[in-house]
Amino acid sequence: MRNLNHETITDAVLARHADTADPRFKQIMGSLIRHLHDFAREVHLTEDEWARGIDFLTRCGHITDDRRQEFILLSDVLGLSMLTVAMNNDKPAQCTESTVFGPFHVDGAPHYDLGADISNGAHGIPCLVRGTVRAADGQPIAGASMDVWQSDEDGLYDVQHPEIGHAQARGILHTDEEGRYYFHSILAVPYAIPHDGPVGDLLAASGRHPWRPAHLHFMIEAPGYQTLITHVFRSDDRYLDSDAVFGVRQSLIADWKQQPDGTYLVEYDFVLNPADRT
Ligand code: BEZ
Ligand code: FE
Repeated sequence: MRNLNHETITDAVLARHADTADPRFKQIMGSLIRHLHDFAREVHLTEDEWARGIDFLTRCGHITDDRRQEFILLSDVLGLSMLTVAMNNDKPAQCTESTVFGPFHVDGAPHYDLGADISNGAHGIPCLVRGTVRAADGQPIAGASMDVWQSDEDGLYDVQHPEIGHAQARGILHTDEEGRYYFHSILAVPYAIPHDGPVGDLLAASGRHPWRPAHLHFMIEAPGYQTLITHVFRSDDRYLDSDAVFGVRQSLIADWKQQPDGTYLVEYDFVLNPADRT
């Protein structure tokens, strides 16, 4: 345990974890330590670079509060969030795919009747959203809860407008007896993820843009089915192939059709996976 060098220190640290009681925690910590040490050796991390890394994480901590989660944003832009979603949401092919949750969901959104306008004053071009929620065998799922949220035409969610004291462009609806849903909202537009903090600096230093393709968020829950957290994307969006958080799935892209009166219509049918199947 004395005179450890840059090679032998890894085994020494791992040995110090030999008495970890929880086997899963032991596995995770062991792998993390091995990969972290290998990473430092591979790039030959300098002391100055180590300090800059610590400073970056410190800045992430300082900017994080109840309304802003810079660590999740970091995980998102590094593809870790989507990797975790993809690994844990393997489903039969006919089921709707999952994607990232994102930081802008709010618990306790207002409840609306089918057909309501959930924009609630948010600015944007009116858009009708409709479709069905079904099981893989085609059976409609009645009474499924749909929590929907989206940004306004400026690409901002209501929670990013400190002056708005109420929910806009978000709400909870329930499917009818035939599994149908329909509501009015506003046209989704591409928007930049928060990039005025350390994660924005990281993107800039990497020559990356902060944009996400236009999308609507859905969280759909029904007894006996796995909760589905997903988006519906616009097929005409220029950022579909360069989403800042890697959340796009081909199966989640829909045509948003402009109507003769200038408003939009998007139709999307969701298929839920039974709770006991992977
Ligand atoms: C979102 O779609 O709301 C989102 C997801 C990841 C990072 C930032 C925003
Ligand atoms: Fe979003």
